Amino acid sequence: MTLEYINNELSVNGNGLTGIAREYGTPLFVYDENMIRSQCRKYHRVLEEAGLDYSISYASKAFTSVQMVKLLAEEKMKLDVVSQGELYTALKAGFNARDIHFHGNNKTAQEVEYALASGIGLIVVDALDEVALIDSIATGKIDVLLRINPGVDVDTHEFIQTGQEDSKFGLSIHNGSALEAVDAIKESRHLNFRGIHYHLGSQLSTESPFLNALEAVYSWLSDSSLDIEVLNMGGGYGVKYVEDDRRFPIESGFRSITGKLKRLAEKYGYPLPHVMIEPGRSIIAEAGTTVYEVGVIKEIPGITKYVSIDGGMSDHLRTPLYDAQYEVIPVNRTEGGDTEANVVGKLCESGDIIGKHLAVPADLKRGDLLAVKTTGAYHYSMASNYNQMAKPAVVFVDDQETRPVIRRQTLGQLIENDVL
Ligand code: LLP
Repeated sequence: MTLEYINNELSVNGNGLTGIAREYGTPLFVYDENMIRSQCRKYHRVLEEAGLDYSISYASKAFTSVQMVKLLAEEKMKLDVVSQGELYTALKAGFNARDIHFHGNNKTAQEVEYALASGIGLIVVDALDEVALIDSIATGKIDVLLRINPGVDVDTHEFIQTGQEDSKFGLSIHNGSALEAVDAIKESRHLNFRGIHYHLGSQLSTESPFLNALEAVYSWLSDSSLDIEVLNMGGGYGVKYVEDDRRFPIESGFRSITGKLKRLAEKYGYPLPHVMIEPGRSIIAEAGTTVYEVGVIKEIPGITKYVSIDGGMSDHLRTPLYDAQYEVIPVNRTEGGDTEANVVGKLCESGDIIGKHLAVPADLKRGDLLAVKTTGAYHYSMASNYNQMAKPAVVFVDDQETRPVIRRQTLGQLIENDVL
């Protein structure tokens, strides 16, 4: 993100974070809108340059909201949704249902009804049982992809690996179940088989698993004499949270993925498919920063220092859940040097940690603001009301203005559904 210090104050696209935090309160998610748009355009550029027929569907789960969906439509993105709620949000934003596809390893009958009634473009079938479910609800033809499991291991946190043989997602190409589902789709009355989908995992830093998956998939298609029109390669392109992380190289990575695809299609005698991808994190993660206000600072002599901020695992779950590492920096830089501290949240769990052994300003005091970088993906979307914490507000900042995108939850909203 265009996050930089101007006169020792952290700013986004030239807008100081102190003023923004005072206006909207903390904790606050601040997004660099220019960066979200430029990530969308980067994907478009690289796929266009490859000369492919393609579409890019943003994975809503990374962060969605009505304003976000409107921005995506402006950037000619399509949309991947995994629940009725994500679909509802997209439709409320006026997004064209034909440009949305529906995922999920356990779509309910109600979700399938809702998706079909909305005129959704594609459903991604995840299980054999779903063929019959969709067929029994649909009245007209519905285009589907089959989620296959290519059996490719990836190097990422266990919770976000998905393309390995032992997975709740998709159907294996190695044990016959994927082919059985293709046959069932073709025999169904309402499902129109368009192609396949796979998603290997998330936060992947190299193209090699994607190349391995293409090899496995094309050899399977050829062995099975199966034709596809659409090949959806999923998301998973990693971002840089801390210095040691390797960001997935979008330009060079996609050049080698699309090159491999062309070679394999030629080798096996297939026409080039319509290529779909579903990036989530890499569109939005690095565009987002969380701003917190410092409260209690506690020194435990001979042990460590704890700096408590005014949010925590209710808006920052990735550290407690995956031990994810973040960079924490002061909004207002001082000359006083750094000291080591654990930056923690205010929720009632010892695991409520933003980061351990971090360098923070030695003169940090109550009321100062801290920024946690790269929190744009899977933060707001995984936020909860644990401890009856209100969900933070979200703002987008471009060169011109700061605009509210999601308001802070109110106390009243916390008990909105309670029977009084
Ligand atoms: N497509 C499918 C079918 C997916 O399951 C996912 C992510 C994506 C696309 C987008 O992947 P991305 O480009 O964002 O890596 N809560 C976890 C991430 C879970 C991702 C689940 N699926 C985290 O905070 O790391």
